[in-house]
Amino acid sequence: MRVCSTIPEARAGCREARTRRQSVGLVPTMGALHEGHLSLVRAARTQCDAVVVSIFVNPTQFGPSEDWSKYPRHFERDCRLLEAESVDMVFAPPVEQMYPAGGVTWVQVEGLSERLDGRSRPGHFRGVTTVVAKLFHILEPDAAFFGQKDAAQLAVIRRMVKDLNFPLEIVACPIVREPDGLAMSSRNAYLNREERVRALVLYDSLQQAQQKFQSGERTAATLIAAAKKVLCRDPEIRLDYFEIVDPDTLDPIGHISRKALAAVAVYVGSTRLIDNVFMDADAK
Ligand code: PAJ
Repeated sequence: MRVCSTIPEARAGCREARTRRQSVGLVPTMGALHEGHLSLVRAARTQCDAVVVSIFVNPTQFGPSEDWSKYPRHFERDCRLLEAESVDMVFAPPVEQMYPAGGVTWVQVEGLSERLDGRSRPGHFRGVTTVVAKLFHILEPDAAFFGQKDAAQLAVIRRMVKDLNFPLEIVACPIVREPDGLAMSSRNAYLNREERVRALVLYDSLQQAQQKFQSGERTAATLIAAAKKVLCRDPEIRLDYFEIVDPDTLDPIGHISRKALAAVAVYVGSTRLIDNVFMDADAK
């Protein structure tokens, strides 16, 4: 497995693969890898000839009071995990490679970037789309793999790819959960034992809404109220949002007549966690 820290090296590595007529699959990450990330790597492995994983804790997607400096970093462990998955290349640039001093250009998906997580984390998606656009330009992958766990991020990236004509396929991979239902996340490491138990409320609230949906309820406000009732049971949980939206536009839906996304974000202590499920009115 090749480990590159500079842009020219990484770009040359991907170009070499393409001259060998190999398709290149990219899995962008911020490291501290878990089974959720590895599921994307495995999907890339089955779909592409060469798999590249980027590890970069992107400073521009963290707000001034957010956790960039204390975000978990386990580079050597991550590399061991990726080597075991037969990854071809890891791209792990230092901040100065990705953001040389004096840079003033940003990629911003208007509207969508202010929905869901973008509303509570101003500037977050501008940082995500800027770094992902840079990775696409540097590595020129044929396909890039993202988790459904970050549903708003996926919608914003799909829109950027469409609007800016990036010649690649975006592949969405299902959420990987712990056995008790908690969606895997690098931020779960921040939770103490009590908070880890409390965190189950995210999935419980989504399941409550899902059950009501499956028994025929189609009014989003009713489903949201049922979910919020579950979330309010624990006074230590601070709700950021529980919304039912169109998965592509992230616009709120009133009556569910097609595919909808129920998405939740809460603070458990000082840790912000997100989760979501699909509700499909057309599914039998
Ligand atoms: P990060 O949080 O490291 O996540 C990298 C990828 O792993 C994302 O596509 C995310 O949706 C996916 N992922 C995380 N947890 C998952 C789970 N439990 N199941 C399935 N997929 C999961 O998302 C980012 O990094 C950054 O914003 C990035 C796109 C790398 C840009 O900096």
